[in-house]
Amino acid sequence: MKRRGSDEDPFAIAGSLIAFNAGAGSRYLPAMTEVLNDEAFATAAATISGWQNYAPTPLVELPGLAARLGVGRLWFKDEGGRFGLGSFKALGGAYAVARLIAREVERRTGKAPSPAEIGSSAFAEIAASITVTCATDGNHGRSVAWGARLFGAKAVIFIHATVSEGRRAAIAAYGADVRRTGGNYDDSVREAQETAEREGWFVVSDTSYPGYRTVPRDVMQGYEIMAAEAHAALGRLPTHVFLQTGVGGMAAAVAAHLWRIAEREGAPRPKIVLGDPENAACWYETIRAGHPVAVGGDLDTMMAGLACGEISDLAWEILATGCDAAVRLPDAAAIAAMRVLAEGAFGDRPVVAGESAVAGLAALAVATAEAEARAALGLDADSVVLCLGTEGDTDPALYKTIIGRDGDAVRAAATAWRPA
Ligand SMILES: Cc1ncc(COP(=O)(O)O)c(C=O)c1O
Repeated sequence: MKRRGSDEDPFAIAGSLIAFNAGAGSRYLPAMTEVLNDEAFATAAATISGWQNYAPTPLVELPGLAARLGVGRLWFKDEGGRFGLGSFKALGGAYAVARLIAREVERRTGKAPSPAEIGSSAFAEIAASITVTCATDGNHGRSVAWGARLFGAKAVIFIHATVSEGRRAAIAAYGADVRRTGGNYDDSVREAQETAEREGWFVVSDTSYPGYRTVPRDVMQGYEIMAAEAHAALGRLPTHVFLQTGVGGMAAAVAAHLWRIAEREGAPRPKIVLGDPENAACWYETIRAGHPVAVGGDLDTMMAGLACGEISDLAWEILATGCDAAVRLPDAAAIAAMRVLAEGAFGDRPVVAGESAVAGLAALAVATAEAEARAALGLDADSVVLCLGTEGDTDPALYKTIIGRDGDAVRAAATAWRPA
């Protein structure tokens, strides 16, 4: 499905396409429970909420934009302040590092440590002997590096050719050894893997593949906190959730969490729609085909966190039936959404949201602009829509180039903002 551009509509993005998921289903299956379940989430929530400076991130209502898009209510969860790391990724990589150290402590001492003991002097020697590594386009590596420092391990982080210098410096600031590789994101994943095997390091990847599930499952369990916080703040389930996809772990975690709540309440699960960059559209192509499809090339998109060519196996196990559509988005869609949020267009409170934070919102704009998509997804004046603003200005220089002001200026405008 295509839509045309228009001058008055900041969201009129030529070139976007929607694929509906013919395999969408309603039951949270036993195989999904093996990946994400209430018990594992309870451990993640208890652990992460015990970290210093934990606080739920704000859920910002955007009534002006909701009216403009023809939905009942629209909420944007702003992850920019998460643990001072600038993105939701603080929840995943760092939690996986904590879990990995806990497993190593148990393996070496025969006793499982409590969450509070991880990072304490009790097991400092074991933690210091562990090197964690990953490939990243920025945010995940920052989280792994931060987690390693928090819990006393070492980190070596691989970045690919197009990761910006600002993002490299942000990871190095947590004391990690940051190494730049040739090729694209998927090539850097392979290099991290091979080096880890050679050196005896632990790969803390946010994507899963055959034989590698434990760590990415931990990562997703950490991500679920966003869904739990949003549900608590809303006091109800949203009817629709629009989520951006890199490898799909974030979208799957949020979808799975809300789906389990829906099952408990005997309610239908929220409709889930994915937003994927056109030059790294592995989720769009996967949903269109009905089976995992990898895309190649340089995966060049401004939405750096979403520049992945291969989906995560674990995410597919949830989203194969747990999502309803995927939208393929050009970079212009992210730019438009970032500007709408920064300006507080339509009278809403301004929000600082980075390039990879807004693809869900851009997908909502695309879907609401098409009568056929509105009908297929049941988007109307009764819809309660949730979007996850997964990062703030994690690349401050790029943010300023796109918005014309820096993140602090937009945050100041947000503080001064009053409803009309
Ligand atoms: C800001 C941001 N949003 C969304 C995502 C996508 O998450 P996933 O790769 O789990 O789909 C990423 C991944 O790096 C990201 O950095």
